[in-house]
Amino acid sequence: MDILQELEDRRADARLGGGEKRIAAQHSKGKLTARERIDLLLDEGSFEEFDMFVAHRCTDFGMDKDRPAGDGVVTGWGTINGRMVYVFSQDFTVMGGSVSETHGKKICKIMDLAMQNGAPVIGINDSGGARIQEGVASLAAYGDVFQRNITASGVVPQISLIMGPCAGGAVYSPAMTDFIFMVKDSSYMFVTGPDVAKTVTNEIVTAEELGGASTHTRKSSVADGAFENDVEALAETRRLFDFLPLNNRDQPPVRPFFDDVNRIEESLDTLVPANPNTPYDMKELILKIADEGDFYEIQAEFAKNILTGFIRLEGATVGVVANQPMVLAGCLDIDSSRKAARFVRFCDAFEIPVLTLVDVPGFLPGTSQEYGGVIKHGAKLLYAYGEATVPKVTVITRKAYGGAYVVMASKHLQADFNYAWPTSEIAVMGAKGATEIIHRGKSPEEIAARTAEYEARFANPFVAAEKGFIDEVIMPHSTRKRICRAFASLRSKKTQMPWKKHDNIPL
Ligand code: HXC
Repeated sequence: MDILQELEDRRADARLGGGEKRIAAQHSKGKLTARERIDLLLDEGSFEEFDMFVAHRCTDFGMDKDRPAGDGVVTGWGTINGRMVYVFSQDFTVMGGSVSETHGKKICKIMDLAMQNGAPVIGINDSGGARIQEGVASLAAYGDVFQRNITASGVVPQISLIMGPCAGGAVYSPAMTDFIFMVKDSSYMFVTGPDVAKTVTNEIVTAEELGGASTHTRKSSVADGAFENDVEALAETRRLFDFLPLNNRDQPPVRPFFDDVNRIEESLDTLVPANPNTPYDMKELILKIADEGDFYEIQAEFAKNILTGFIRLEGATVGVVANQPMVLAGCLDIDSSRKAARFVRFCDAFEIPVLTLVDVPGFLPGTSQEYGGVIKHGAKLLYAYGEATVPKVTVITRKAYGGAYVVMASKHLQADFNYAWPTSEIAVMGAKGATEIIHRGKSPEEIAARTAEYEARFANPFVAAEKGFIDEVIMPHSTRKRICRAFASLRSKKTQMPWKKHDNIPL
């Protein structure tokens, strides 16, 4: 037979994975195949495959009679809008995408190349877990992948797409990556499944309830986003990828932009309502600041009292953290502190500047917060801001009270530019609470009068501005222009923390 034809035949066979029947079964579940997913994720024709003919080496349980080419995972590299990325995509049609020794080796190979060449890794997970026939060899394969997830963390961005089962110890590889996206109704993640839960804790719960996309985006915060189907998840991953640098020594990408840096937004002058207790939507401010109103939100469904995500200013990526007065009055609590801290640390690891928009009345009080360890969790955000050496620009729109004022990228945590709108109230606590303590035991009328006095004296940005904690009180309508100029002036910022092996962030 013509040797070229033989290669073509072998390739065609490998591309079929587990065969037409299993591909049809995959499609009938609303899922794409491993290769279809790669085709949608990467630029057309850019995929270079590795190890297409790798086969497992297991001889137990008659396994040597069936050695499918590729061994249940498709690996290689390609480009997204011209920028390089390494990819692995588990093929559920081949032994349920289960992880054998050789399957693990294929993933490790592309992770090593990604670190060596400074390009992100995107892992598409769709697997029944450890290849049961291979026993401990399969566990070892997972262990080798885990180690690479850890080594690569903070070196190249790692993104996990969960597009089918991901259970048992297998969840710990995605867990150590920077972003996890799930597909609604066709993916789940849990350490122990519904059957074990029933046996051990007597709970009756479906796989979807225990570890579906809704659970992990709303309750556990394990996942950063959930999408309707594979196609949407892959398209949104491309969109996220465009915001990210390729590695920790690269600069965040700068795209051509079509927005006016000096754009004035008159509507922002009336964004903050006259009544300090009336909420407003902080997302409106983010959208009005961002180039072309484009905001890529991370963890949109979890801890909605804080917003996190990426925008561009003058075409360059900026991470945004913003209190959301619409939810819990924008208070900080355990969940919002954890969410924002992890986001700030990602930005700092990959040299993405951070914009912080502040309207925070303080930390949420109560036993559930204290028993849940709000002291340590709140400290995570404080710590994350304080250790971040990327350009940091902060705008206070309204309240910045107490400890939360310090935490939210204040001047004291080495923010570079701290701006305040004229509507800002920067104080140790709200006027009424402060007056009740200072004038304890006085009549209600007296308290009311003193509260008004306190407000007039302290509920403004000027006391902080007098001390230099606020660099400038700015007009809301010119916020975009001011922060664009601030970040532009910080492009060559260089600061260093003292040498340490690593820090000891409160966990
Ligand atoms: C070998 C597996 C497999 C596995 C699935 N298959 N999981 N083969 N090892 N872990 C095979 C099936 O035999 C079947 O082969 C094909 O994949 C498709 O599986 P189905 O069961 O038909 O699919 P479905 O009904 O969709 O169910 C999917 C599933 C189920 C829920 C994932 O297959 C399942 O429960 N698998 C076992 C899960 C498991 O216990 N894994 C080990 C967990 S321990 P054919 O030839 O019929 O197509 C673990 C530890 C990791 O992962 C630790 C890391 C440190």
